[in-house]
Amino acid sequence: MTDQLAKKSEAWSARFSEPVSELVKRYTASVDFDRRLAQADIEGSLAHAAMLHAAGLLGDADLAAIRAGMATLRDEIERGAFAWSVDLEDVHLNIERRLTELAGDAGKRLHTARSRNDQVATDIRLWLRATIDETRAQLASLQRALLDLAEPHADTIMPGFTHLQVAQPVTFGHHLLAYVEMFARDAERMADCRRRVNRLPLGAAALAGTSYPIDREAVARALGFDGVCGNSLDAVSDRDFAIEFCAAASLVMVHVSRLSEELVLWMSPRVGFIDLADRFCTGSSIMPQKKNPDVPELARGKSGRVFGHLVGLLTLMKGQPLAYNKDNQEDKEPLFDTADTILATLQIFADLVGGISVRPERMRQAAAEGFSTATDLADYLAKKGLPFRDAHEAVARAVRSAADRGVDLADLPLDELRAFSALIDADVAAVLTLEGSVAARDHVGGTAPRQVRAAIAQHRARLAVAS
Ligand code: ARG
Repeated sequence: MTDQLAKKSEAWSARFSEPVSELVKRYTASVDFDRRLAQADIEGSLAHAAMLHAAGLLGDADLAAIRAGMATLRDEIERGAFAWSVDLEDVHLNIERRLTELAGDAGKRLHTARSRNDQVATDIRLWLRATIDETRAQLASLQRALLDLAEPHADTIMPGFTHLQVAQPVTFGHHLLAYVEMFARDAERMADCRRRVNRLPLGAAALAGTSYPIDREAVARALGFDGVCGNSLDAVSDRDFAIEFCAAASLVMVHVSRLSEELVLWMSPRVGFIDLADRFCTGSSIMPQKKNPDVPELARGKSGRVFGHLVGLLTLMKGQPLAYNKDNQEDKEPLFDTADTILATLQIFADLVGGISVRPERMRQAAAEGFSTATDLADYLAKKGLPFRDAHEAVARAVRSAADRGVDLADLPLDELRAFSALIDADVAAVLTLEGSVAARDHVGGTAPRQVRAAIAQHRARLAVAS
């Protein structure tokens, strides 16, 4: 094999009468992208070698030579001194060839009881496990940034919207906590996905298992896996875990994209609720006055490529018969790009949220303008005994009258309000205030400042335990 590996201008093996064409070689090679798996590949190989040695399948000298050779080539890769060759197709064959140059026959013995099929499945799982841990750390940082912004704004009144129409007053802190909930669920999904990622395919060999007396559990322990894949055919062909990651990543991007949409809206001069720090914005090449929220817009746009990767991977898998097929090589670029996109996005968003400056007076003004306490007035009447549907109708008439006159409900004098219901008394004033409205929603999950502060404390405690 090694002689053949060293001279890929020749046929693949004695089985073949001619080498692959240049075009086919480039078409089938994956080394340009799968070299990202190099460190995982080396780690997996070292655990495999140790197991072969313990099983009596690899001598002391061979194990030592493999370890020394791997240390050297690992260093070469880290220094950028490794000579990657497209002639050697993929990361696995590149590393094996260099190991054999460094370690001689020991390098050729490493592939005993193993196939590239179980090898690559192992590599991706190792790589993805580390990526998931990084993603969870980034999700925690973003949640902390949101909590840091929510805390000083636990009392800041803003309009809450339904149908993008002013609905009821909420606090800005409460609004931000909605996103903390979303990113907390994302972190849970990532942790759940990690459990299924963290299973060892090695030992499945090409598809059927191997005739050597291997110890899969020992390899699993050495690599930090929770256990081994239960069926060799499934072990080499399963990519559910990659799809699950892309699905979880897609939801991360849904949440980032919704937040982005709000940031863009809030920053529009028409709304003016917030400003983003200049380092996240750009100007226009023609309009000197412009300050554009490019980062949230781009993040909103990047959600599309992540969803695309999810659909790509689902499509990649749906027609494949058991077990391994070369189709699977197409799993890597979508997976890598998904990870790169969400990690970069989450990192920049933690910083971006920290750079938001809030304009509470604009938020308050918008909340005061939209009859946002109308529900409170209806509740007030219902609490005095009027059936809620009748209360709703009475307040609807009051709103219409106030709107016609261009004033807010709170601006109507008491005797005019009483024209809509005799149940209205002087105590209505407190009900119609924005502060009264938010303070009244004082239960778990409500927008009352007291509840917002309690929720912030709970989230902080959760994040302290998780990290
Ligand atoms: N580069 C291949 C991949 O990514 C490695 C496995 C190749 N196995 C094979 N039987 N051709 O899937």
